[in-house]
Amino acid sequence: MSVSIVVGSQWGDEGKGKVVDLLSSQVDIVVRYQGGANAGHTIKIGDKQYIFHLIPSGILHKNVICVIGNGVVIEPQALLDELKMLEDNGIDFEGRLFISHNAHLIMPYHKLIDSINEQGTQKIGTTGRGIGPCYIDKYARRGIRIADLLNKDDLKIKIRKNLAEKNNILEKIYDHAKLDVDEIIDECLAFDAKIDKYITDTAEYLNDAISKNKSVLLEGAQGALLDVDHGTYPYVTSSNPTSGGACTGTGIPPTKINNVIGIVKAYTTRVGLGPFPTELFDEDGQKLGKIGAEFGATTGRARRCGWFDAFLVNYSRKINGIDRAVITKLDVLGHFDEIKVCIGYEINGKRLKYFPTSSAELNSVVPIYQSFKGWNSEISEITKYDDLPTEAKEYLTFISSACGFEIKYISVGPKRSQTIEL
Ligand code: GDP
Ligand code: IMO
Ligand code: MG
Repeated sequence: MSVSIVVGSQWGDEGKGKVVDLLSSQVDIVVRYQGGANAGHTIKIGDKQYIFHLIPSGILHKNVICVIGNGVVIEPQALLDELKMLEDNGIDFEGRLFISHNAHLIMPYHKLIDSINEQGTQKIGTTGRGIGPCYIDKYARRGIRIADLLNKDDLKIKIRKNLAEKNNILEKIYDHAKLDVDEIIDECLAFDAKIDKYITDTAEYLNDAISKNKSVLLEGAQGALLDVDHGTYPYVTSSNPTSGGACTGTGIPPTKINNVIGIVKAYTTRVGLGPFPTELFDEDGQKLGKIGAEFGATTGRARRCGWFDAFLVNYSRKINGIDRAVITKLDVLGHFDEIKVCIGYEINGKRLKYFPTSSAELNSVVPIYQSFKGWNSEISEITKYDDLPTEAKEYLTFISSACGFEIKYISVGPKRSQTIEL
């Protein structure tokens, strides 16, 4: 029995959804701890594909309890759409979905301000889901929380207060029409009627479950390099996807965490703006995007692609405390004569000792590459490590030693069965 954190070790979309679903067969509870519907976690079962934005990726296992933790920011309509999707697919979640009373709500003005900001000079390339503006209100101590839905009179007062300020900003600064306060209140009340039964004190619930030896998987969204503190600021999200965020985002103390599992894509991708030292602008980059089907699960945007960056993942291993890793999408590299891995950076011919998170510095680094012979073969049906081509094993051995972690699983396709356990 244990408490494990699953973290994205790069810029998101590493395959966390697939891995969390896979590991869910071994746990009692899966918890999302930060982010919101900016996440898109894909699970493929047979020919059916599910994409989860807010619901934890353990929901397809009928005995697994799923918890949306206090660190998550919840957009009502996104959650309702997802619940409907589950119902339409005959997935029963009654009695096994809990929502933290302390989670914050993404309001229509958060999404609107997010999209207005993206048209200005501070463009980040966000998912447009209102994430940043909602976390701003959380830290400014004026956010609307799930618990506020439980007291209708107070809720109305809080929304009116927030909207008075937001409408002022919308009108005077953004030259935008005011939003209708009554409409927003009605939407919140309708939302509460549908989700009221799932609301609970999830920190209390989780600590109680852990004391009864239940095993828990904490599912991170995004990735370490998108972390607001440790990522490539300002081109980051507004939460802490790194493992530390799992404690604050759930109320589970650090002393209860047993291990941190890093999800590591066998190459690198990034969506949105920001530095990306190993990005490829040539045929190889296009090949990675095409074979890897690298399109955003939330926005459909094409993901930028590049070679694996061991210097970056080693930094990620360090700040997350990753002790074991799952390498995903190794199959995608089976179409190259030569595969490169970045082992460090140089600026003006001088090798950097530490990974720089300053965007300006990262934009000026020159990656140092080590070349590997490709295996040029299809590996997506291989189920045993020994059956992998020698070149693929050499690539994995190098990654494991350069990044300083043990590899526990290798994913060679989107389905559960396309996984090699070591
Ligand atoms: P997440 O956000 O980390 O959950 O990742 P996404 O779901 O956004 O993106 C990962 C994509 O790769 C999805 O389309 C998955 O179905 C797919 N995928 C996951 N693992 C593998 C793999 O090992 N090989 C291939 N070819 N696709 C994979
Ligand atoms: P999953 O969980 C990849 C990126 C956006 C943008 C930046 C800020 O599926 O791995 P935001 O909307 O959060 O304010 O956008 O973060 N981003 C992601 N990139 N995967 C994600 O989630 C992402 N969630 C946000 O593209 O660059
Ligand atoms: Mg994703």
